[in-house]
Amino acid sequence: MSTTDFFSVVLNQRAHREFAAAPVDDATVETVLRAATHAPSAENKQPWEFVVVRDPAVQTKIHDLTEAAWNANGRAFSETRLTPELLKEVDEGIAGGGYRTAPVLVVVCADLERGLPATVGSSIFPCVQNLLLAAGALGLGSALTTLGAAAGAPLAALLGLPDHVVPQAIVPLGHPVRPLGPPRREPVAEHTHRDRYGTAW
Ligand SMILES: Cc1cc2nc3c(=O)[nH]c(=O)nc-3n(C[C@H](O)[C@H](O)[C@H](O)COP(=O)(O)O)c2cc1C
Repeated sequence: MSTTDFFSVVLNQRAHREFAAAPVDDATVETVLRAATHAPSAENKQPWEFVVVRDPAVQTKIHDLTEAAWNANGRAFSETRLTPELLKEVDEGIAGGGYRTAPVLVVVCADLERGLPATVGSSIFPCVQNLLLAAGALGLGSALTTLGAAAGAPLAALLGLPDHVVPQAIVPLGHPVRPLGPPRREPVAEHTHRDRYGTAW
């Protein structure tokens, strides 16, 4: 991959919440997960466990748990925090079937017996980011979502997780249903300081 390709993937990464019907095979999922597992992790404990969900019944239940969390308090909490545009995107993703439209859901979990509580999140999310970028490099859409992962006991029961394996993120993977425009990001100079906080870059 050239430098240009790398930056093109990174700078065009977006959260995809709806997917086309085209399938994603196991070899592709494995390629993406291999990239995920090449992330750094504290003490190199690699505390990730992935549950790859293709079963439509399980996907529907995960979608239902997420939708219930959004409707119960997630939306009210987010209403004043998200831009109207982002709120609309999340609303449409959930109403449009979200997780149910993805050919694959990857539930990324943390094994709390391998990772220390203080660092396990810092180890899992680089892994998730690698997963998202690898998906983008292969032309797939994906999204880092945590709303559904917070469902707790019902999700753990659905996936048969032992107590020490805790969901951290649910990443839908699939072919984008449409291109999403460019990411909305603030300029680097607005959040970069030279030598001392407050001195302009
Ligand atoms: C920690 C974290 C949690 C997130 N949780 C959700 C989520 O539960 N549902 C969702 O639709 N998007 C979720 N997102 C995606 C963000 O909304 C998205 O990355 C952000 O709005 C930027 O949008 P873009 O990636 O399309 O440019 C999450 C992102 C992060 C980093």
